[in-house]
Amino acid sequence: MKASTSILALTALVLPQVAVAWDGFGHITVAYLASHFVSPTTEKYLKHVLGNNTEDYLGSVATWADSFRKTEEGAFSDTFHYIDALDDPPFWCGVDLERDCGETGCVVTALANYTLQSLDPSLSLAQRHQAAKFVIHFVGDLHQPLHNENVEAGGNGIDVLFNGVEIDLHHVWDGSIGTLLVNDGVAGDPYVIAKKWSTQLMVELTTGKYAEEKAGWLEGIDLKDPATTALGWSRDCNSYICTTVLPEGPTAIIGQELSGAYYEKAAPVVELLVAKAGYRLAAWLDLIVDEYRRRKSCRMH
Ligand SMILES: *[C@@H]1O[C@H](CO)[C@@H](O)[C@H](O)[C@H]1NC(C)=O
Ligand SMILES: *[C@@H]1O[C@H](CO)[C@@H](O)[C@H](O)[C@H]1NC(C)=O
Repeated sequence: MKASTSILALTALVLPQVAVAWDGFGHITVAYLASHFVSPTTEKYLKHVLGNNTEDYLGSVATWADSFRKTEEGAFSDTFHYIDALDDPPFWCGVDLERDCGETGCVVTALANYTLQSLDPSLSLAQRHQAAKFVIHFVGDLHQPLHNENVEAGGNGIDVLFNGVEIDLHHVWDGSIGTLLVNDGVAGDPYVIAKKWSTQLMVELTTGKYAEEKAGWLEGIDLKDPATTALGWSRDCNSYICTTVLPEGPTAIIGQELSGAYYEKAAPVVELLVAKAGYRLAAWLDLIVDEYRRRKSCRMH
C-alpha cells in the first residue's frame, strides 16, 4: 500500500495533469459532444437550469461531480461513480445489479436516482440543477470500462508503465490513452483538448465511421426504466474488460508497458466509448427534458 502511494505521488509530480484526464477532458468531451446532438428545446431548458447561456453550458459542469465527491458535503456521492462488477476477467465479464451495487449506491442506481429527480417538477430549480450535473457526469463514468469493474478497485491497484512512467491502470484508461490519441500525449488545457476531440467525433458520428452504427447505440434506451437502461450501458462497457482492458487477466499486466501494442488496441475502444457516451447522453437529456416539460404542463393545467 505504501509503495503504491509513493509511486502515485511521484507520478503526480512528474505529470501533474494526467489525473485530470477522463475526469477532466474525457468527461468534458462527452458533454461537448452531447451538446452537438441535443434538440433546441433541450439546449434552451438546460441552459436555464444550469444557469449558463454559452455553448459551454454542458461542458462547464461535466467534472463538478468529481470535485463534489471529495467535499464533506458531497462525500455521500463517493460510491455513485462506479459499480464493482465481481466478474472474473478475462474468463467471464458481466455486471449484476444485485451482486455488484453496494449498499451505499453505485453508478447505475445513481443515474436512475438523478434522472428521476430531473423529471420531477415539484423539485426546486437548485435540486434539478444538481441532478442534471450528476446525470451528465455519470453517463460519462458508465462508459469507462474500469468504472464497471471490481478487480483491484477498478484497476487503481494495478501498477503499469505508460511511456516509461509508472502509473496505475485505472488512470491509463481515465486519461493516458485519450491524451496520446488526441493530443500526442501532452496534457494541456482539458477544455481545449475536449473541444477539439468532440468536434472530430461529431464529424465521425454525422458523416464518418460511426454514422451508420450510432442508431444501434440507443437500443434499449427507456426513460420509464432508467436503472435497466444504465445497466445495459454498464454491461456494454464492462465487456471490454475481458477483450481489451485485461485480455490476459489482472496479474499478467502488472509492470507492462502499455503505450505500444496495448495502446493500439485500446485507443479505438476509448474513442468508441466516448462517442457512445456523448450520443447516448444527448438522447437521454432529450428524453428527460421532453418528459419534464410534459409533466410540468400537466401540473399547470
Ligand atoms: C459558462 O461556462 C463557461 C465555460 O466554462 C464559463 O467560463 C462561464 O463562466 C460560465 N458562465 C456562468 C454564468 O457560469
Ligand atoms: C438519491 O439522491 C439523493 C439526493 O442527492 C441522495 O441523498 C440519495 O443518497 C441518492 N440515492 C441513490 C441511490 O443514489
